[in-house]
Amino acid sequence: MSIQTEEELHGLKRVGRIVALALEEMRKHLKAGMTTRELDEIGQRFLEKHKAKSAPKLTYNFPGATCISINDEVAHGIPGDRAIQPGDLVNLDVSAELNGLFADTGATFPVSPVSDLQRRLCATARRALRKAVAVVRTDAKFNRIGRVIEEEAHASGFEVIRNLFGHGVGRGLHEEPEEVANFYDVQDQRRMTEGLVFTIEPMLTTGARFAVEDRDGWTMRTEDGSLVVQYEHTVVATKRGALVLTQA
Ligand code: CO
Ligand code: CO
Repeated sequence: MSIQTEEELHGLKRVGRIVALALEEMRKHLKAGMTTRELDEIGQRFLEKHKAKSAPKLTYNFPGATCISINDEVAHGIPGDRAIQPGDLVNLDVSAELNGLFADTGATFPVSPVSDLQRRLCATARRALRKAVAVVRTDAKFNRIGRVIEEEAHASGFEVIRNLFGHGVGRGLHEEPEEVANFYDVQDQRRMTEGLVFTIEPMLTTGARFAVEDRDGWTMRTEDGSLVVQYEHTVVATKRGALVLTQA
Protein backbone atom coordinates (compact mmCIF):
# COMPACT_ATOMS: atom_id res chain seq x y z
CA MET A 1 0.00 0.00 0.00
CA SER A 2 0.91 3.60 -0.27
CA ILE A 3 0.29 5.64 2.87
CA GLN A 4 -2.21 8.45 2.33
CA THR A 5 -3.22 9.49 5.83
CA GLU A 6 -1.77 9.99 9.31
CA GLU A 7 -4.13 7.29 10.60
CA GLU A 8 -2.69 4.76 8.17
CA LEU A 9 0.84 5.68 9.20
CA HIS A 10 -0.10 5.45 12.86
CA GLY A 11 -1.79 2.06 12.37
CA LEU A 12 1.19 0.66 10.48
CA LYS A 13 3.59 1.89 13.16
CA ARG A 14 1.48 0.08 15.75
CA VAL A 15 1.41 -3.27 13.97
CA GLY A 16 5.09 -2.84 13.02
CA ARG A 17 6.02 -2.40 16.65
CA ILE A 18 3.92 -5.40 17.70
CA VAL A 19 5.65 -7.79 15.28
CA ALA A 20 9.05 -6.39 16.28
CA LEU A 21 8.29 -6.93 19.97
CA ALA A 22 6.86 -10.41 19.32
CA LEU A 23 10.11 -11.33 17.56
CA GLU A 24 12.11 -9.94 20.48
CA GLU A 25 9.97 -11.90 22.95
CA MET A 26 10.63 -15.12 21.02
CA ARG A 27 14.37 -14.36 20.82
CA LYS A 28 14.56 -13.90 24.59
CA HIS A 29 13.11 -17.38 25.16
CA LEU A 30 15.01 -19.15 22.39
CA LYS A 31 17.22 -21.93 23.72
CA ALA A 32 18.44 -25.38 22.79
CA GLY A 33 16.08 -28.18 23.83
CA MET A 34 12.82 -26.34 23.30
CA THR A 35 10.60 -27.26 20.37
CA THR A 36 9.74 -24.86 17.58
CA ARG A 37 6.08 -25.24 18.61
CA GLU A 38 6.89 -23.91 22.10
CA LEU A 39 8.67 -20.97 20.54
CA ASP A 40 5.76 -20.33 18.19
CA GLU A 41 3.31 -20.34 21.11
CA ILE A 42 5.30 -17.53 22.73
CA GLY A 43 4.88 -15.48 19.55
CA GLN A 44 1.21 -16.44 19.26
CA ARG A 45 0.47 -15.38 22.84
CA PHE A 46 2.25 -12.07 22.36
CA LEU A 47 0.24 -11.29 19.21
CA GLU A 48 -3.01 -12.27 20.92
CA LYS A 49 -2.25 -10.09 23.92
CA HIS A 50 -1.95 -7.13 21.53
CA LYS A 51 -5.08 -8.05 19.56
CA ALA A 52 -3.04 -8.80 16.45
CA LYS A 53 -3.59 -11.82 14.20
CA SER A 54 -0.91 -14.00 12.66
CA ALA A 55 -0.68 -12.88 9.03
CA PRO A 56 0.42 -16.21 7.48
CA LYS A 57 -2.39 -18.02 9.30
CA LEU A 58 -4.95 -15.39 8.29
CA THR A 59 -3.74 -15.13 4.68
CA TYR A 60 -2.58 -18.63 3.76
CA ASN A 61 -3.96 -20.80 6.56
CA PHE A 62 -0.31 -21.50 7.49
CA PRO A 63 -0.08 -24.20 10.20
CA GLY A 64 1.53 -21.94 12.82
CA ALA A 65 1.45 -18.36 14.08
CA THR A 66 5.02 -17.63 12.98
CA CYS A 67 7.46 -19.20 10.52
CA ILE A 68 10.45 -20.90 12.14
CA SER A 69 13.16 -22.02 9.73
CA ILE A 70 16.34 -23.78 10.84
CA ASN A 71 19.81 -24.13 9.22
CA ASP A 72 19.18 -24.92 5.51
CA GLU A 73 15.53 -23.83 5.71
CA VAL A 74 15.14 -20.49 3.97
CA ALA A 75 11.54 -19.65 4.86
CA HIS A 76 8.07 -20.87 5.88
CA GLY A 77 9.32 -23.54 8.28
CA ILE A 78 6.37 -25.05 10.17
CA PRO A 79 6.53 -24.93 13.98
CA GLY A 80 6.26 -28.44 15.45
CA ASP A 81 7.97 -31.12 17.50
CA ARG A 82 11.47 -30.39 16.24
CA ALA A 83 13.74 -29.58 19.17
CA ILE A 84 16.23 -26.77 18.67
CA GLN A 85 19.80 -28.08 18.85
CA PRO A 86 23.00 -26.42 20.06
CA GLY A 87 24.66 -24.84 17.02
CA ASP A 88 21.39 -24.30 15.09
CA LEU A 89 20.68 -21.17 13.07
CA VAL A 90 17.08 -20.29 13.89
CA ASN A 91 15.12 -17.90 11.71
CA LEU A 92 11.99 -16.35 13.18
CA ASP A 93 9.66 -14.60 10.77
CA VAL A 94 6.77 -12.74 12.35
CA SER A 95 4.03 -11.00 10.42
CA ALA A 96 0.66 -9.85 11.71
CA GLU A 97 -2.53 -7.94 11.04
CA LEU A 98 -4.08 -5.31 13.28
CA ASN A 99 -7.15 -3.25 12.27
CA GLY A 100 -6.72 -4.26 8.63
CA LEU A 101 -3.02 -3.32 8.44
CA PHE A 102 -0.09 -5.71 8.07
CA ALA A 103 3.64 -5.64 8.95
CA ASP A 104 6.34 -8.26 8.45
CA THR A 105 9.71 -8.77 10.14
CA GLY A 106 12.27 -11.51 10.58
CA ALA A 107 15.71 -12.32 11.95
CA THR A 108 18.05 -15.26 12.34
CA PHE A 109 19.61 -16.11 15.69
CA PRO A 110 22.46 -18.58 16.16
CA VAL A 111 22.18 -20.92 19.14
CA SER A 112 25.49 -21.46 20.89
CA PRO A 113 28.04 -22.82 20.20
CA VAL A 114 28.28 -20.46 17.23
CA SER A 115 30.83 -21.17 14.49
CA ASP A 116 32.91 -18.42 12.88
CA LEU A 117 31.13 -19.10 9.59
CA GLN A 118 27.70 -18.65 11.18
CA ARG A 119 28.80 -15.48 12.93
CA ARG A 120 30.14 -14.02 9.68
CA LEU A 121 27.04 -15.03 7.72
CA CYS A 122 24.72 -13.37 10.27
CA ALA A 123 26.86 -10.21 10.52
CA THR A 124 27.07 -9.89 6.73
CA ALA A 125 23.32 -10.27 6.26
CA ARG A 126 22.56 -7.75 9.02
CA ARG A 127 24.93 -5.31 7.35
CA ALA A 128 23.31 -5.99 3.97
CA LEU A 129 19.88 -5.16 5.41
CA ARG A 130 21.19 -1.97 7.02
CA LYS A 131 22.80 -0.83 3.76
CA ALA A 132 19.71 -1.73 1.74
CA VAL A 133 17.47 0.26 4.11
CA ALA A 134 19.83 3.20 3.62
CA VAL A 135 19.21 3.36 -0.15
CA VAL A 136 15.42 3.68 0.28
CA ARG A 137 14.10 7.09 -0.74
CA THR A 138 11.22 8.40 -2.82
CA ASP A 139 12.17 8.05 -6.53
CA ALA A 140 15.12 5.69 -5.89
CA LYS A 141 15.31 2.64 -8.15
CA PHE A 142 14.25 -0.62 -6.54
CA ASN A 143 17.20 -2.46 -8.00
CA ARG A 144 19.59 -0.49 -5.78
CA ILE A 145 18.35 -2.67 -2.92
CA GLY A 146 19.38 -5.91 -4.59
CA ARG A 147 22.59 -4.34 -5.78
CA VAL A 148 23.85 -3.45 -2.30
CA ILE A 149 22.67 -6.76 -0.83
CA GLU A 150 24.42 -8.82 -3.51
CA GLU A 151 27.59 -6.72 -3.30
CA GLU A 152 27.71 -7.12 0.45
CA ALA A 153 27.18 -10.89 0.21
CA HIS A 154 29.78 -11.44 -2.50
CA ALA A 155 32.36 -9.26 -0.73
CA SER A 156 32.24 -11.75 2.15
CA GLY A 157 32.13 -14.87 -0.02
CA PHE A 158 28.40 -15.54 0.40
CA GLU A 159 25.51 -15.91 -2.04
CA VAL A 160 21.95 -14.59 -2.15
CA ILE A 161 18.71 -16.48 -2.77
CA ARG A 162 17.36 -15.43 -6.15
CA ASN A 163 13.85 -16.92 -6.12
CA LEU A 164 12.44 -15.45 -2.92
CA PHE A 165 11.87 -11.72 -2.60
CA GLY A 166 10.92 -8.71 -0.55
CA HIS A 167 7.40 -7.48 -1.30
CA GLY A 168 4.80 -4.81 -0.86
CA VAL A 169 2.81 -5.07 2.38
CA GLY A 170 0.19 -3.04 4.27
CA ARG A 171 -3.39 -3.90 3.33
CA GLY A 172 -2.30 -7.51 2.91
CA LEU A 173 0.77 -9.60 3.71
CA HIS A 174 1.93 -9.76 0.10
CA GLU A 175 0.94 -7.08 -2.39
CA GLU A 176 2.40 -4.76 -5.02
CA PRO A 177 5.25 -4.20 -5.62
CA GLU A 178 6.14 -7.87 -5.99
CA GLU A 179 9.65 -9.27 -6.25
CA VAL A 180 11.94 -6.80 -4.50
CA ALA A 181 15.05 -8.73 -5.49
CA ASN A 182 18.06 -9.51 -3.33
CA PHE A 183 20.33 -9.41 -6.40
CA TYR A 184 21.08 -6.71 -8.94
CA ASP A 185 18.45 -6.87 -11.66
CA VAL A 186 19.53 -4.47 -14.41
CA GLN A 187 16.15 -4.84 -16.14
CA ASP A 188 14.17 -3.64 -13.13
CA GLN A 189 13.33 -0.01 -13.87
CA ARG A 190 10.77 0.46 -11.08
CA ARG A 191 11.15 3.35 -8.68
CA MET A 192 9.97 3.82 -5.11
CA THR A 193 7.02 6.16 -4.78
CA GLU A 194 6.28 8.43 -1.83
CA GLY A 195 4.64 6.54 1.06
CA LEU A 196 5.08 3.10 -0.49
CA VAL A 197 5.24 0.29 2.11
CA PHE A 198 7.35 -2.79 1.40
CA THR A 199 9.75 -5.27 2.95
CA ILE A 200 13.46 -5.67 2.50
CA GLU A 201 14.57 -9.20 3.36
CA PRO A 202 18.07 -10.29 2.37
CA MET A 203 18.53 -14.08 2.40
CA LEU A 204 22.22 -14.94 2.40
CA THR A 205 23.68 -18.41 2.04
CA THR A 206 27.00 -20.19 2.24
CA GLY A 207 26.57 -21.23 -1.40
CA ALA A 208 23.04 -21.80 -2.67
CA ARG A 209 21.38 -19.35 -5.07
CA PHE A 210 17.96 -20.98 -5.08
CA ALA A 211 15.43 -22.29 -2.58
CA VAL A 212 13.34 -25.40 -3.29
CA GLU A 213 10.07 -26.47 -1.71
CA ASP A 214 10.08 -29.30 0.79
CA ARG A 215 7.69 -32.26 0.63
CA ASP A 216 5.59 -30.68 3.39
CA GLY A 217 4.36 -28.12 0.83
CA TRP A 218 5.51 -25.11 2.90
CA THR A 219 9.15 -25.18 3.92
CA MET A 220 11.64 -23.68 1.47
CA ARG A 221 15.20 -25.09 1.69
CA THR A 222 18.47 -24.24 0.03
CA GLU A 223 18.90 -26.43 -3.06
CA ASP A 224 22.18 -27.92 -1.80
CA GLY A 225 21.73 -27.91 1.98
CA SER A 226 23.91 -24.86 2.51
CA LEU A 227 23.23 -22.61 5.48
CA VAL A 228 20.95 -19.62 5.10
CA VAL A 229 20.00 -16.58 7.18
CA GLN A 230 17.36 -13.90 6.66
CA TYR A 231 16.72 -10.47 8.19
CA GLU A 232 13.64 -8.47 7.35
CA HIS A 233 12.14 -5.05 7.96
CA THR A 234 8.98 -3.36 6.75
CA VAL A 235 9.83 0.15 5.52
CA VAL A 236 8.11 3.21 4.09
CA ALA A 237 9.75 5.23 1.29
CA THR A 238 9.87 8.96 2.06
CA LYS A 239 11.75 11.96 0.64
CA ARG A 240 14.08 11.83 3.63
CA GLY A 241 14.78 8.10 3.32
CA ALA A 242 13.36 4.94 4.83
CA LEU A 243 11.02 4.94 7.76
CA VAL A 244 11.52 1.53 9.41
CA LEU A 245 8.23 0.28 10.89
CA THR A 246 9.51 -2.92 12.49
CA GLN A 247 12.06 -1.68 14.97
CA ALA A 248 11.24 -2.64 18.57
CO1 CO B 1 8.55 -12.17 6.81
CO1 CO C 1 8.24 -10.83 3.96
